[in-house]
Amino acid sequence: MNFTVQPSLIADAKVTVPGDKSVSHRALMLGGIAEGRTTISGFLAGEDCLATMAAMSAMGVDILQTSATDIVVNGVGLRGLVEPSAELDLGNSGTAMRLMAGLLSGQSFPSVMVGDESLTSRPMRRVITPLSSMGAEIESNDGCPPLRIQGGSHLRGIDYTLPVASAQVKSAVLLAGLYADGITTVKEPAVTRDHTERMLSAMGVKVDRADSRISLRGDQQLFGTDIQVPADLSSASFVMLAAILSKSADVLLDGVGVNPTRTGVIDILQAMGADISLQNARLYGEEPVADIRVRASTLHGGSVDPKLVSLAIDEFPVLFVAAAAASGKTEFTGIGELRVKESDRIAAMASGLRNLGIRVDETDDGATVHGGKFRGGVVESHGDHRVAMSLAVAATVADDTVTVKDVAAVNTSFPEFTDCLGRLGVDIQ
Ligand code: S3P
Repeated sequence: MNFTVQPSLIADAKVTVPGDKSVSHRALMLGGIAEGRTTISGFLAGEDCLATMAAMSAMGVDILQTSATDIVVNGVGLRGLVEPSAELDLGNSGTAMRLMAGLLSGQSFPSVMVGDESLTSRPMRRVITPLSSMGAEIESNDGCPPLRIQGGSHLRGIDYTLPVASAQVKSAVLLAGLYADGITTVKEPAVTRDHTERMLSAMGVKVDRADSRISLRGDQQLFGTDIQVPADLSSASFVMLAAILSKSADVLLDGVGVNPTRTGVIDILQAMGADISLQNARLYGEEPVADIRVRASTLHGGSVDPKLVSLAIDEFPVLFVAAAAASGKTEFTGIGELRVKESDRIAAMASGLRNLGIRVDETDDGATVHGGKFRGGVVESHGDHRVAMSLAVAATVADDTVTVKDVAAVNTSFPEFTDCLGRLGVDIQ
């Protein structure tokens, strides 16, 4: 499946993008091991979260989908999961596999997790190492999936400093910590998304947070709760980019998650000159939310603050396109983690943008993007949802038709992407 995108005029619009992927995964996992009922509204029914849903169901959690975005999870309690009868297939989802590795390490039964071609080549030592030092026994294929978790291990709390800033690894260790003796502490080298900590607190778990250390004591019970999932800022950022690059659009995005551990994309775009404002700030439970107004803007390049990288980790494909449309050059440094996402996002974006006439100089952990004008052409998504969507938005301001190849993975995080761009007036097939 490809996207064919024509240069398009973006209309003023009010848009609601689907629910947050990170929060949706966690609501299913934590709801599943809570006592009693968890209701989830605004759930992202994308392939990644559906893989988590199937895995939790396969371990005995009764999960009902009462509408496209409403879910009821009847939790089985901390010790209530049962051995799945088959391998757990987590599809394309690194988040599902890494968080689940923590959860499964604490179970009394064995389990095997598999994934698609992209997930099968993603690094898992980052979770295997700390979980093993807690006492888990995990076999992998040279550090990559499939993961075989023996189960029945006696876990001990650890005090672990993350070698890479990763919310997935932090969450895996904290989830295993629920099943461990004593206290489990994770120290972060840079702030990463804290949805796990917030949701655990909302479910009654005492989580201590001081400076960059997050600690919890094992064997605490979780209690089911009502979770309203904010719209996903990562999905919103494609719409924001389309509005920014447009001639004169004024677009309002409704109810978007603006947890400060996620808003690096807003800070970086604003520093480049984007006209973005937050309105109607509120909370959905523990999660900050706002409406985001974005207007057509003239962007300029600069050096992106490496301190913002972990706060914008999924938005670099969007930021590469913004940089390509900005005046001057934009330097990205400290973004080596992008090379181990759903694709090597530095290489994928560099080659996609080059095909559209933009100069990009790559380094091991960064890139310099030279602003220019997009021409039409054919670009590869490398099977990566965020690369596909970012290049599709670039195409709205190209000189000619752009074809983005192999875009099926968009369904992992933003199944309504083409409809949403269509509402903005984009000619996308
Ligand atoms: C996620 C954490 C991030 C992000 C991913 C979702 C999460 O990964 O890239 O899309 O939900 O915890 P890392 O924390 O490994 O960088």
